Amino acid sequence: MAAGTCRTDVRYRVRGLRDCLNVDDFRTLARRRLPAPIFHYVDGAAESEHTYRRSLLAWDEIGMAHNALVDVAAVDTATTVLGQRIAMPLLLSPTGTARLYHWRGELAVARACAAAGTFYGVSMGSTFSLEEIAAAADGPKLFQLYVFRDRGLSIELIERCKGAGYAAVCLTVDTPVPGMRERDLRTGMTVPPAFGWKTLLDFAAHPAWTLGLLRGGRLRMGNLENRAEGRQDITTLARFLGGQLDPSVTWEDARRLVEAWGGPFAVKGILSVADARRAVEIGASAIIVSNHGGRQFDAGITPIEMLPRIADAVGGQIEIILDGGIRRGMHVLKALALGATACAMGRPHVFGLAAGGEAGVRQLLALLHAEIRRNMILMGCATIDAVSRSMITNDRIAGYPIHKGDLGMAAV
Ligand SMILES: Cc1cc2nc3c(=O)[nH]c(=O)nc-3n(C[C@H](O)[C@H](O)[C@H](O)COP(=O)(O)O)c2cc1C
Repeated sequence: MAAGTCRTDVRYRVRGLRDCLNVDDFRTLARRRLPAPIFHYVDGAAESEHTYRRSLLAWDEIGMAHNALVDVAAVDTATTVLGQRIAMPLLLSPTGTARLYHWRGELAVARACAAAGTFYGVSMGSTFSLEEIAAAADGPKLFQLYVFRDRGLSIELIERCKGAGYAAVCLTVDTPVPGMRERDLRTGMTVPPAFGWKTLLDFAAHPAWTLGLLRGGRLRMGNLENRAEGRQDITTLARFLGGQLDPSVTWEDARRLVEAWGGPFAVKGILSVADARRAVEIGASAIIVSNHGGRQFDAGITPIEMLPRIADAVGGQIEIILDGGIRRGMHVLKALALGATACAMGRPHVFGLAAGGEAGVRQLLALLHAEIRRNMILMGCATIDAVSRSMITNDRIAGYPIHKGDLGMAAV
């Protein structure tokens, strides 16, 4: 699904990184470079994909007016999130199994993030171990985990993160069971890719990807090795991980993890004011307002439309990271205006990785950073703090009427 570009009459083809001017171009290139089941695994979402579509389109409903004649000769896009000073208010969300998209996997993304000066959200389902990823680059890293049936495993991972120098930990709370992704059933997506005549044809049509997969050696789940019984191949470990998701997890479990980590802690997958308040109560440092990119619960709620009321309830008590549907620098600025501390994105960096490895992710991050900077100048905002809700021009977000009070306007 494409979003973030406007229709023009200019015909063009995206043949390589040099043709990538926006996130959609990276998506187009990724689609060309990946076998179809893998592309659709990244691009797809749950059930009717309604929530995902709305997350991409909701931005168009939000207008912003600029401040004229402000001195913006020097613009500073830097901000502080989870205790780290980062170059721009945009982080990379955790996405698992990166070696499926490029043979250098998470190591390539870690290096690109460090070069861009921003946080890398490392998924616990990474193909390299959290220690290998930490050793690959110096930039700040956030480790994402779940509360597992085996509670000791979550604590063990937290201890490993301390040893490896991770800056923050994040607990994903919207995955008591995996979402139903119908595209994966139709394309026959499995991890690792199953061998059949269709897959072999697909591999033959993508020789660079296939060679990369072979070059990288055995596909692993770096953080789970020796935890499952039997063979330590990715199929066994992915099945082990799926079996460890626990629908009986509660806020009390989350509180124990906050205490065990003792540092900056984010709760990922918050979509209501009540849950945002609970995250404050258990002592979390940040909430990630997220619907998992529409990959879990196809309920039609988008993070951006929930943001103003969540920000009004808990803003100032906890950092708020908006995750999902970010495809433009301007989307980041709209989210900041509506109360976010920063934003995070998932699929775009996977598209960058598939399109061109480390160079692809670097180019993508540089592009979005330039969009944030240019639009701050156009808006008359010299710093991130200058982006304010008073610049929002409409009181409807994503087609839902919201209370006037939510936008800081007088109630009528
Ligand atoms: C391929 C893929 C893998 C993902 N893996 C994880 C994961 O391991 N843990 C997690 O908390 N979220 C995971 N997510 C969700 C992302 O962290 C993020 O919430 C989502 O991608 C945001 O939406 P966006 O893709 O529109 O930016 C994954 C998303 C994708 C696309």
